[in-house]
Amino acid sequence: MGEIEGLNGIPRLKRMQGLQQLKGIVAIAVCAMSMSLMAQDAAKVNQWPWMNAGLSADERAEMVLKEATLEEKIALLHGNGMAHVDQWQTPLTHLANGGAGYVEGISRLGIPPLYVSDAAYGVRSSGDNGRYSTALPSNAGAASSWDPEAAFEYGALIGRELRAQGFNMSLGGGVNLAREPRNGRTFEYLGEDPILAGTLVGNLMKGVQAQHIVGDIKHYALNDQETGRNIVNVVISKRAMQESDLLAFHIGLQISDAAAVMCSYNRANGDYACENPYLLKEVLKGEWKFKGFVLSDWGGTHSTAKASAAGLDQEQPMAEFFGPALKAAVEAGKVPMAEIDDHARRVLRSEFASGIVDYPVQKSVVDAEGGLDIAQRLEEQSIVLLRNEKSILPLDAKQLRTVAVIGPHADVGMISGGGSAQVDPPIGNAIAAPGTRATTWQQQIWFPTSPLKALRAKLPNAKVEFDSGENPASAAALAKGADVAIIFAHQWESEGMDLPSLSLPDNQDALIEQVAAANPRTIVVLETGGPVTMPWADKVGGILEAWYAGSRGHVAVANILLGEVNPTAKLAVTFPKSEQDLPRPAIAPLSADDIGQGSGAVNGVTHEESKYSVHYDEGLKVGYKWYDAEKKPVLFPFGYGLSYTSYAYSDLKVSPDGRTVTFTLKNTGKRAGAEIAEVYAMLPAAADEPPKRLVGWAKVKLAAGESRSVKVDVNPNYLQIFNEQKNGWLTVPGDYTFAVGGSSQDLPLKHTLFLQ
Ligand code: BGC
Repeated sequence: MGEIEGLNGIPRLKRMQGLQQLKGIVAIAVCAMSMSLMAQDAAKVNQWPWMNAGLSADERAEMVLKEATLEEKIALLHGNGMAHVDQWQTPLTHLANGGAGYVEGISRLGIPPLYVSDAAYGVRSSGDNGRYSTALPSNAGAASSWDPEAAFEYGALIGRELRAQGFNMSLGGGVNLAREPRNGRTFEYLGEDPILAGTLVGNLMKGVQAQHIVGDIKHYALNDQETGRNIVNVVISKRAMQESDLLAFHIGLQISDAAAVMCSYNRANGDYACENPYLLKEVLKGEWKFKGFVLSDWGGTHSTAKASAAGLDQEQPMAEFFGPALKAAVEAGKVPMAEIDDHARRVLRSEFASGIVDYPVQKSVVDAEGGLDIAQRLEEQSIVLLRNEKSILPLDAKQLRTVAVIGPHADVGMISGGGSAQVDPPIGNAIAAPGTRATTWQQQIWFPTSPLKALRAKLPNAKVEFDSGENPASAAALAKGADVAIIFAHQWESEGMDLPSLSLPDNQDALIEQVAAANPRTIVVLETGGPVTMPWADKVGGILEAWYAGSRGHVAVANILLGEVNPTAKLAVTFPKSEQDLPRPAIAPLSADDIGQGSGAVNGVTHEESKYSVHYDEGLKVGYKWYDAEKKPVLFPFGYGLSYTSYAYSDLKVSPDGRTVTFTLKNTGKRAGAEIAEVYAMLPAAADEPPKRLVGWAKVKLAAGESRSVKVDVNPNYLQIFNEQKNGWLTVPGDYTFAVGGSSQDLPLKHTLFLQ
């Protein structure tokens, strides 16, 4: 894996003595401040007109804004450091509850601080802070459920655990499209389709915010690789970005009304995302009428006046540009007061709208048991059955006498995704020696979720033996004598690095080849962040994609293997045959110029100096749209996933306006199941679009033999294209074909009609 400087990946160092002293002084001051607040006449607090919850968030924010001084407004517009990162300490950082950020409120007016924590697949850094968090399946995995209700439940759990841990703002909701599947953060995002990803992130964020948490969607926008992420300039047309990555953000915001959007590290068409007038002012706040606030990614602010004018509202995690420098710029007339008011109003409005003023955060013990049940259920809905030759699965517990469990650490646990998304396992890193289990940045962290133990528990009458696979010959020998061999293969991803290729690392392909040669009754369980190549795919009996499986992933996997749960998930991302089939066969390496030194530089390179750019020539053809358009066969297509039952589609009808698609779905097998039925649209040739796009879906539960009429509503906007001349969306008149089926490449029903 190519390592890249991660801004917040600085190892923990001892705090400086001076800082400790300073903290003491500030703590006394803050304590005195809160006591004076407590001493305030409660009746007076209640009389503050903005404490009337019957008023709108806009009205309440406006009232506070009128009372606030310039200093108080500016305090809302920057962070005060980041816990556990020595380069980002300020006198107030210790108030941050151990989180990624801390923004002062206006205590004089009853406005609480923001206690900000990362929370992608669970609350981050709980171990560092002596707390426990549930790890849900990784985001990309959970997207395979295609289930908005499951996404809400996912977000709601995160919201509850944030509150229990004393946080009132989440940094999660990653929705960059999987345009570059080697991106080290693919596991944090929701797949490659903007309508699916946008719908899921919107529901996830609704779940978070329903717990009275300020929700955040990130990283806006086009932050698709970690290589050179702080300098890379993404070059892309407006139409392509509107119809791909931006569409996902827009849908997510429409569904959730998320309170915050985090702008990303990279540049887009020349300007850094956090000072990009097109992305922030024109599109987000203009076209989409976003009413929340924009915060920079950590260290992603590069200017004062330019960023403020472009629409950045809050610098994180420090106050280099939006602290004293912003105040000075206002006083010098370089930044208009109206801009400060707009920024502060947005932060205040978000505080009222999310409920953190009316429902102050209160620490409690995380519902660990409840969390484990949810994590297991969500993982069971996320595991994709990719191959099932001769119905090798589900395994019949009664028939099995000997089982070979093979794979690095499969006796101990399952791997998780790293970086700022990292959730800490309860005992620390399960594969480290006792006493050295504290988790560190960019280290592979394994949860104590042993698939070997889970399988032994479910197969009390079978001999379940283990081989780490370190020596493929010994693993093959064990497999040879077994009724079935189950290999747990993994690929680790983390913020701060990209994958060198889509191959499984550490000789695991060779291990699988040898075991499968010894015993064709081999099943591969993949623990990966995104797609991997599988040169051995047609030599094994079964393949399950379990992703990063979360706090109870081992039980979920065992339940699917043994048929206690019937798989329902479908891929939210294409698995290509080889990286040669991607729009870019390799991620462009950084050149010496890009990593040179310079003052005021970001990772050593100033804005002006950096020439590192990536041209998105594939434009809006992300994922399946690319492979379809280029006629490249794939390993497993978008929308694909098998079940232990089978389904038949018939009787397609489309309403004349194209807004309602109905069809009959029948469970033709012998088990109950749930089918994700997918609806795609093929636009008229004049639209100049890729062959098809997803426009809707339904997840339908059916008993064995049951058949049902299914109705899918199609949002007419999802049939439109972005027209650059008109700078807006329009419907291209012509013939539209609606195609329905169980995967993007298995669409048995089609109906064409004219729309205008
Ligand atoms: C990441 C963000 C994260 C922030 C705070 C950055 O390095 O890109 O996703 O929220 O750090 O930890």
